[in-house]
Amino acid sequence: MKKTEQQRVIQGLLDHLDASTNVDAGGQVKIPVSTYLCPERAQQEWDLFFQDYPSILGLAADLPEAGTFFTNTDLGKPILCTRDNEGRFHAFLNVCRHRGVVVEAAASGKKQTFSCPFHAWTYSNQGELVALPREDHFGPVDKSCHGLVRLPAEEKHGLLFVNPSPNGALDLDERLGELGPELESWNLGRFVGSGAVTYPHAMNWKLANDTFGETYHFNVLHKNTLAHEFYGNVQMYDTFERNHRMMLCLKNIETLRYQSKADWQVLEGSLPVYFLFPNVQLIIGREGPTLVRVYPEEANPHASYSKISFYLDSELLTHTESEETRQILLDIQGRMRGFGEIIQQEDYVAAASSHVGMRSGAQEYLTFGRNEPALHHYHNTYRSALGLPPLTVNSH
Ligand code: FES
Ligand SMILES: [Fe+2]
Repeated sequence: MKKTEQQRVIQGLLDHLDASTNVDAGGQVKIPVSTYLCPERAQQEWDLFFQDYPSILGLAADLPEAGTFFTNTDLGKPILCTRDNEGRFHAFLNVCRHRGVVVEAAASGKKQTFSCPFHAWTYSNQGELVALPREDHFGPVDKSCHGLVRLPAEEKHGLLFVNPSPNGALDLDERLGELGPELESWNLGRFVGSGAVTYPHAMNWKLANDTFGETYHFNVLHKNTLAHEFYGNVQMYDTFERNHRMMLCLKNIETLRYQSKADWQVLEGSLPVYFLFPNVQLIIGREGPTLVRVYPEEANPHASYSKISFYLDSELLTHTESEETRQILLDIQGRMRGFGEIIQQEDYVAAASSHVGMRSGAQEYLTFGRNEPALHHYHNTYRSALGLPPLTVNSH
């Protein structure tokens, strides 16, 4: 993040604290509960946002060196992601061109070639069909057109983007807009993986996104956890195309009041939470980023899950020679996991309860307040992508 932007954000948070104000969306909006419950809507979303849309499948660290791979099924099809021997990122349908069997079953690893478990047709980590047994018996196969089906894939700003549709677009510059250079500034490629958890939840996937869209709930839902570390109901907020950035307010911001503005480091006083449309929260913590990906269970409006991946600054791992530094590292990893547990045990419990409440038929709409602009923006961009009119603002 640019120095001037860091200063603007910190100053804005301090001003809000001093004036007891918050960001203001200019009014309230009412959102129909059908947004979350309608099966036809869920199918539309699945087709548009998960079957033919640039999707973030991890950080560069998920393919830590040449020859590594991981597999993925979150987008409803088997996908194989590789880093080839020159370090380039590729994605393929993980489907054998002989009789369609899933080629690689492991979640991740390091391999030069991938051999199908059925008859051992074998593919390189660049997707080429390189060998098949007994071609003299099987008959000739034109290897040049029986490689794994390639998917549009790009490693950009330290993130791994894939479109699960072979003819789909990636158009990342257009999708990210001004956010691209800012993501680049975090140098996300320098981090290393530090574990991941998956939480299934009985609720619409957008409710999981919504829990990240405001800090109005911090002093209530998180009164015994995050509220110790954060000021609730105070944030700075900016949009970038379909994406947005919330800057949460750490109580540690008070220490910046005694520093010269030129010395302000934004992560000392604030926690950036980027929402990358349609389903990713990228949280930039002081010790490393956390990537939250939310997926519907295919087109089911009532079931979804979150994958939360933790990453650490590689610098931290190079200083593990003493017991003391090892302990510091364990503490950081414990804190990261604790953060994931708060999301699961507090945010997602409330969100799943909201899903139950909506299904009861008690009301036809939910209300997003003036202090929840991220929810306005997310739902309006979502509606616009589906060809729906924006939510009406009630400016009382
Ligand atoms: S299905 Fe893969 S080798 Fe036959
Ligand atoms: Fe929360």
